[in-house]
Amino acid sequence: MSELILDNIDNNYVSVIPAAEHSTAAVEESHEHLKYTVETENLAVSFFGREAISDINIKYRSNTITAIIGPSGCGKSTFLRALNFMHDLTPGAIVSGTIKIHGKDISEYDMTDVRRRVGMVFQKPNPFPTMSIYENVVAGLTLHKRHKKSHLDETVEKSLMLAGLWEETKDRLKVSAMALSGGQQQRLCIARTLAINPEIILFDEPTSALDPMSTAKIEETLHILKKDYTIVIVTHNMQQASRVSDYTSFFFLGKLIEHSKTRTIFTSPKQKLTEEYVIGKFG
Ligand SMILES: Nc1ncnc2c1ncn2[C@@H]1O[C@H](COP(=O)(O)OP(=O)(O)OP(=O)(O)O)[C@@H](O)[C@H]1O
Ligand SMILES: [Mg+2]
Repeated sequence: MSELILDNIDNNYVSVIPAAEHSTAAVEESHEHLKYTVETENLAVSFFGREAISDINIKYRSNTITAIIGPSGCGKSTFLRALNFMHDLTPGAIVSGTIKIHGKDISEYDMTDVRRRVGMVFQKPNPFPTMSIYENVVAGLTLHKRHKKSHLDETVEKSLMLAGLWEETKDRLKVSAMALSGGQQQRLCIARTLAINPEIILFDEPTSALDPMSTAKIEETLHILKKDYTIVIVTHNMQQASRVSDYTSFFFLGKLIEHSKTRTIFTSPKQKLTEEYVIGKFG
């Protein structure tokens, strides 16, 4: 696999393209497999007529982790929720622009299928309080369909293993999820997301309520998940962004100001605003 480099198509349009594909011949040949897991074109969201994000043009490839950084209220969660189609249920919310999955507009997919492809983990661990650990993991699977017990057992083990929680819970799967610590609950929520077999996993400040040890465990999990998924993570923690991500997007006042390799964003960003934010001049 060639080294990934960034290609600025225009001011606010960023994509990540393998370096070898820059020769003209290679571009045509590679067109077919040059697919992004998810991309947005002119994505905008407003609430009761007030714009929260606009002109968001971005593409994500699989096996990458992208961090989204920016001050409070700049639209990070709004963007993530748009990618997870959550605004359909938000009063006063209007979403415009395009979201594509594997190059195809989401309107061309069955909505249930699209929803399955995108998983989300929130800031505050939110296991279902009346369910056991086991039931929590398979909650998304058993909602609409009956499955063989052997399939569910297998999914529970696999998902908890990937989320780094299997060893701590394998002997007490029938215990209430509320018996777990905050960090364990967050890993349980990750396992629940993995169980539906998504391709893209969106994390909205998944460790901001956790202690350093639990945070380290989740960051370790992110590295493992990267092998199979496309990951986008919102974080206020600059060290976390630089530790875990390959790419970083800086949002400010509802706009994507800059998207680049994480190293570039933190050492030599193009925009003055990005530099001021990452060195802590405001935020
Ligand atoms: N459901 C909603 N109804 C009305 N306005 C909303 C709603 N959700 C978000 N907003 C507004 O959209 C803007 C962006 O909010 P958002 O939650 O996306 O910010 P954020 O970057 O995630 O901030 P934080 O870092 O504090 O989580 C804010 O002005 C917020 O008030
Ligand atoms: Mg937020």
